[in-house]
Amino acid sequence: MRPAPSTLDRLLKPLHRWIWADGRRRARKLLRFAETEADGGRDLARAAELTRDPLLRRLYLRHAEDEQRHAGLFAQRGRELLLSQGNSRGFEANFIAPGERGLDDLRVEDEPDEALLAFLHLSENAAAGRFAAYAEVLEADRTTRALFARILEDEAFHMAYTRKQLARLAPRKQGLHLWKARAGRVWSAYLRLAAALAGVLGHVLLLAQYFLLLPPFALLTRRAARRETEGFAASRTPTPLRSQY
Ligand SMILES: [Fe+2]
Ligand SMILES: [Fe+2]
Repeated sequence: MRPAPSTLDRLLKPLHRWIWADGRRRARKLLRFAETEADGGRDLARAAELTRDPLLRRLYLRHAEDEQRHAGLFAQRGRELLLSQGNSRGFEANFIAPGERGLDDLRVEDEPDEALLAFLHLSENAAAGRFAAYAEVLEADRTTRALFARILEDEAFHMAYTRKQLARLAPRKQGLHLWKARAGRVWSAYLRLAAALAGVLGHVLLLAQYFLLLPPFALLTRRAARRETEGFAASRTPTPLRSQY
């Protein structure tokens, strides 16, 4: 299986080129990818502990080692770029160019091997396609491009072994498991989009409150302040203490 960019990533190629053109953003993105890969590696090591299938245990462990190695390679390249470019915070466009996403949604304890393999196969497939797209637009940075090409070989192996093992464990229901995993990924994508949209709407509403609701109160306070006399004010005449009325 030769990983290739998806049609969407092909259409978004100019956008990907723009995202990866900035050296500092490239460094930050690689460091973020390193975190995701390391996280995925830990989840796969946990999956290796939980499975009762000896062949799957070996494959999960090899997969975990690969993801851990990817984390190290991404972190190393990210640090090199940061040292040469200097650090600064900025827009990372993670929604458009997220790297090996999907492994971060993994719940290894709750999934039987068949569901986990279907989920892993789709995530690896998507990640391999994205990495292929990023490698295509990195003409100006040959070292990072070579890094993606190297990692792609492992991702192709992850794609292939998960598919093969799913066919071994569930020869009749593999299509159903893949369909369910696909539905789960669509749901996760919807939740991510909804959360991002909620964040934007919250921001807009708070800005509207700040600029529309606060000014009248500020004007009222200013008017009230004008009515106040300046300097010491005479105290009120004390009320007699004979009765409360
Ligand atoms: Fe990876
Ligand atoms: Fe992978």
